[in-house]
Amino acid sequence: MRNSPIGVFDSGVGGLTVVKELTREMPNEDIVYFGDTARVPYGTKSASTIQKFSIQNVLFLLKRNVKLIIIACNTSSAIGLPFLSKYFSIPIIGVIKPGAKAAVRSTRNGRIGVIGTSATVLSGAYDKEIKALNSGIKVYSGSCPLFVPLAEEGWANDGIVDVVARKYLAAFKGRNIDTLIMGCTHYPLLRSSIRRVMGKGVKLIDSAEETAKEARGLLEECGLKSAARRKNRSKFYVSDAPDKFRAVARRFLGRDAQAVERVDDV
Ligand code: DGL
Repeated sequence: MRNSPIGVFDSGVGGLTVVKELTREMPNEDIVYFGDTARVPYGTKSASTIQKFSIQNVLFLLKRNVKLIIIACNTSSAIGLPFLSKYFSIPIIGVIKPGAKAAVRSTRNGRIGVIGTSATVLSGAYDKEIKALNSGIKVYSGSCPLFVPLAEEGWANDGIVDVVARKYLAAFKGRNIDTLIMGCTHYPLLRSSIRRVMGKGVKLIDSAEETAKEARGLLEECGLKSAARRKNRSKFYVSDAPDKFRAVARRFLGRDAQAVERVDDV
């Protein structure tokens, strides 16, 4: 089992930011990735639909004999993880708890901002995790739906992102937050604009980095770390448009996604 791959799923291409961090943290772990490109975005859908898709994605990865499942999608983690953990015995982790932990560690004044998709913000998942760690912390949340298409379009360094970011983040400016969780797979790509708008005094939290650390800790704890002495092999499955996935993947993964296959059995 310890040399089995880690399974990662996301609504599409964004979860590759988590794969990038996992590869950095554990270079010898094989990864099987599933991107639900036929049904993306999840962030605008209802909780029951997101739950249904999440179950199907877990079942798909279980067929690939994975040893651990990481929900790289913030939306799916926020809405799907609480009940997935009840129904499946395989260890499953999401990106919300690691991000919340990092934010609580980072804040000095006890005021944290959270940005994410509409579904993530509506779920209140980050607020709950933060409050469970420290009930005295004030949490301010807001959704930034246009950030997702802007990141996929490759416009991270275009002035248009600054304009959109100023509009979305204006609500946080008077809140005196010192920490902001980028609670969506795509937002770390827009980090420079978000930093420009929020200023250097606000620490930006990227859930992907923290999730990779949490995954490593969990594998060590369960005695499931790979014993392989070679670089990892990654396999990428998508439910639609593999060519488009390949074209966008580089921006999120920092390298080309080699083996991309379209599947129908989800
Ligand atoms: N992966 C999603 C997330 O992190 C963003 C894209 C979507 O809405 O599906 O919330």
